[in-house]
This record gives sequence, C-alpha cells and structure tokens, in this order.
Amino acid sequence: MPAIAIKPGIYWIGVNDRTTDLFEGMWPIQREGVSYNSYLVLDEKKALIDLASGRQEAPYLQQILDLINPAELDYIVLNHMEPDHTGAARLLYHLAPNAQFLVTAKGKPMLEAFYGITERVRVVGDGEVVSLGQKALQFFAVPFVHWPETMVTYEPTTGVLFSCDAFGGYGALVGAIFDDEYPDMDFYIRESLRYYVNIVARFSGPVLNAIAKLGGLPISVVAPSHGLIWRKNPMHIVQLYREWATLASEPGKPGVTLIYGSMYGNTEVMMNAVAAGVAHAGVPLAIFDAARTHVSYILPSVWVHKGVLIGAPTYEVSLFPPVAQALGMIAHKRVMNKKAAYFGSYGWSRGAARECLEITAKLNWQWQEPLEFNGAPTTEDLHRGEAFGEAFARSLLEA
Ligand code: FEO
Repeated sequence: MPAIAIKPGIYWIGVNDRTTDLFEGMWPIQREGVSYNSYLVLDEKKALIDLASGRQEAPYLQQILDLINPAELDYIVLNHMEPDHTGAARLLYHLAPNAQFLVTAKGKPMLEAFYGITERVRVVGDGEVVSLGQKALQFFAVPFVHWPETMVTYEPTTGVLFSCDAFGGYGALVGAIFDDEYPDMDFYIRESLRYYVNIVARFSGPVLNAIAKLGGLPISVVAPSHGLIWRKNPMHIVQLYREWATLASEPGKPGVTLIYGSMYGNTEVMMNAVAAGVAHAGVPLAIFDAARTHVSYILPSVWVHKGVLIGAPTYEVSLFPPVAQALGMIAHKRVMNKKAAYFGSYGWSRGAARECLEITAKLNWQWQEPLEFNGAPTTEDLHRGEAFGEAFARSLLEA
C-alpha cells in the first residue's frame, strides 16, 4: 500500500507480511498475516519511527522512497529491538548516513549485538523530548512491553502515540489501516487477543504499568507497530489491553476450555460426554484437539475463561504428549488461577493426572477430582462423564 497520512506531516509507511509462516518462528500466521507499521515524521528534521522485518526490506524501502530519500533522515527511532521492527536497521544505517539512532540505554547494546551498529547511536532518557522543528518526539520507557529496552514515542503537537508492540495485533492490514475503516473488526479483535496472549501476556504487569504511565497524555491516535491504527476511538484498544492484562491476576469469566487428545478414540468418546454435561449447565465451551490445533489458538480461550478441562489418555506413564505440550506452553505463559479437572483413559498404567498437576504446579490452579477409566468407557462411565462435566461447569458459576 502507498504511504498514508495519519496527521499532517506524519505518515504510515508500513508493510504487510503474508509470507512468514510463523511469527517469532513459532506462532502461526499463515492465514492471518501481520503488518510491520513504520512511521515517518516530516518537519524541519525528519524522523523514521520503527522499521520492518529484514524479510520485507525491499517493499519497506520502497515505502520510504515514495516520500523521501533516506539520506535526508535525521533520526531513526527504535522503540524496541526485536528484529520484526529492526530487521532493516543495517540497511538504513548505510542509506541514512546523517541519521542518529535513538534508543534507550538498554537498547544500545542490543543494537550492537543484533546489527553491529555502534556509531551514530544516541541514548534517550525517559520523558526526554527531541525537537523536530514544529513537531517533537517525546520518549517514555515501557520496560517489558515487550522487552526490557522498550519505549514508546509520543508526538505532542498532534497527540499521536507510536506504541510499538503495545496495543498491536496479528493480521495483515486489509486495505484500510484505521479502526474506522476496517471491514472486519471481530477478526481484528480476535487476532489482537491472540497476539496479546502469545506475545505480551507474560508481561501483563508491565502492560498495566505502561497504561498507567501513559494515562495522562492527551492521545488522539494510537499507532502501534502491528495492526490497526486507532484514530476514531484510540482508547478502545487501550481498554481491551487493560482488560486482557488484568486477567493475569484473575481467573476469568465463566467458560470452559476443553483441551483433549485421543489415541484410539476412547478419550474422545468420553470428551463428548463431558462436553454434553458442560452444555447442560449452559456454560460456554470451546473444544480443542491438541494434536491438531496449534497452542497459539488455544491460549486465548484459556486466558479469558475460568475453567480448563484436560482430556487425554495416559501415554507411557505420562500425559499424552500433544496435550502435555499445550499445557506446558500454558504454564510457560503463566496462565494463573484457573479451575481445572482431568479425565481420560488408561491402559496398563496411570500417570496422566499426576503430570497435569506437575506441569501446572506454579500456576495456583484448583484441580478437581479426576475422572479416569480403564480402556474404553462403558455406558456407565459415560454417564459419569456427563455428570462430571456438568458439575465442573456449574462450579464455575459459583462466586
Ligand atoms: Fe513486534 Fe516484540 O516485537
């Protein structure tokens, strides 16, 4: 897409990425894509704010060239050093020989480590203002949103906040870049939540700190480095991020995420009985086959709902590995304070229920009594499963 003016003298020059399969090398975005939003602020001095992935260097450079010769740049602001925003740094270093790289103190050694850049690097402090002429750039440290060196940049005369990862989302931009033009907001909110839980959620405390810190600024536009730019209702995405970050210390709303796996169908038969029980209680239910669903898509449901049901057979005295791997990532992301229960089949040994407790030992999860059965479930087992699911779901409705 061509450059788009956000405010007079401030341009979006981002690029869509629809060819990278895995964000951060692990989170699937084949269907959704992602955008790397970069911005140009043109005044007496000219500043570039955040860059793009090195894999998108060619289209990104064209975006810059459509507006200016990079040799005219005075500043290159790197809010955050992760290579999805800095991959083009070495290229810009050579094409913009008059530009200073503006980074935080913790960003400076990262710029050297990732790109070998040590010259023309200027450390900016928390709250520092750099004048561009009529416009200015003010920097605010927001450590761990998403890395320790991260800052955001604010342009005070227009109220544009360049927030980098904060308030971003997956999803290549579909023609429009603004919230008031976007054709499918449900898709975008869903992908923002998936991005939040995959990438940022472990740092929810710093997210809340950043929102509090930036709360006093008159913000007219939230311009993150991924996804939509919020100009009609800039506080909408801030409020969503606040809600999602708050869930790090709360159990979530009534609802069940049922994560299951089945080797020969016996646990799957039981899973359907348990699901019927949950349905009888009228509680929302999302079912994921862990062997066939990337955990990226499971995490958002676990994050926002209070209940987790794990259905899996015992496999070599342990939890069925695809389910164990999903649960392991849930533990890695520190999804805390859930109510949980295990059900599943065992053959010659139990062990799955024990491993559920081990994997989630540091998460403060309340585990209810497991439902285990030997081999294939009998009709009586299935009735027990239905009652098990209903009782579990009803317990989520209790205060
Ligand atoms: Fe979009 Fe933490 O990089």
